[in-house]
Amino acid sequence: MLTQDQKHGFDRDGYLVIEDFKSAAEIATLRDRAAAIVEAFDPTEISIFSTNDQTRTSDDYFLDSGDKIRCFFEEEAFDGTGRLRQAKKLSINKIGHAMHDLDPVFDRFSRDPRLGEVVGDLGIAEPRLWQSMYIFKQPGIGGEVRWHQDATFFHTEPSTVTGFWFALENADRSNGCLWVEPGGHRGPLRERFVRDGRKVSVEKVAPTPWPTDSTAVPLEVRGGTLVCFSGMLPHYSAPNRSTTSRHAYTLHITDAWAKYSPRNWLQRGPEMPVRGF
Ligand code: FE2
Repeated sequence: MLTQDQKHGFDRDGYLVIEDFKSAAEIATLRDRAAAIVEAFDPTEISIFSTNDQTRTSDDYFLDSGDKIRCFFEEEAFDGTGRLRQAKKLSINKIGHAMHDLDPVFDRFSRDPRLGEVVGDLGIAEPRLWQSMYIFKQPGIGGEVRWHQDATFFHTEPSTVTGFWFALENADRSNGCLWVEPGGHRGPLRERFVRDGRKVSVEKVAPTPWPTDSTAVPLEVRGGTLVCFSGMLPHYSAPNRSTTSRHAYTLHITDAWAKYSPRNWLQRGPEMPVRGF
C-alpha cells in the first residue's frame, strides 16, 4: 500500500499525510452515526451539572470510558449559570473511547483492510486498537489541545503507539488543524499520564521544551485525508474560533509484542480484550 518514499518520509518526519484515503460516502456514514450518538446522549447522566465533588465524578466518567461510548462536552460549552451556550450537538468536544469495538459503523470504518495494510507497512506487526475518538472541534468553542505526545497516554516498552487521524472535513489554520514538529519524534518522551486506581496524574519524564511555532508546521488537509503519526511526535491543535467545525476521527494503535504499561489509564478486562484488525 505505501511506497518506499512514504515509509521513509514517515521514519524521517514522524508523520505521513495520505490524501483521499476515505471516500465522501464513508465519511458521511461515520458523521451520521456520530450525530445519532450525540442525539441519543442524555447530558443529565453525567455530573457536569452537579457542583458537588465535580472533579472526582468527571474523572470517573472519563476513567470508565475506555470500554464504552461516551460523550464529553467542550470546556466552554456552559455559561456561568451552567446552561449550554449553544445546542447540544454543537457543544460536544468528543465521543470516546471504544466505538471501534462497540459500534458496527465505527468498527467498519476503523477495521478497513486498507488501513490494516498501512499499519503493517508502518512496521506494526501485531496491531492492537486501544482507542477511538470522534473529535468535533466545534465552531466558536472548539477547545485547544496543547502540545503533547500520544505516547504519554499509551506507554509501551519500547514505544510503539501510532496515531491515525482521519479528517472528516477540511482542516486549516482557521478551524484548528493539527500542528506537528517534523522530526520531533526523535526527541525524548516528556510526560507520562499515569493511573493509580481511581486517580490519574501527569509525571514529568524529560525537561525538553515543547516546540514553538517557528519549528512547527500546520497540517492543512482536505476531508478524507489520513494523517499517520508516531506516538513520539509532538503535536497540538489551536482553538477553533471560526464558524466552521473541524470533525476528525482518531485511532491509537500499539504493537502487541511491546509491553503495554499497567499504569496507562486505558486498560481492558478479559470480558472485552483489546483486538487487532
Ligand atoms: Fe494527540
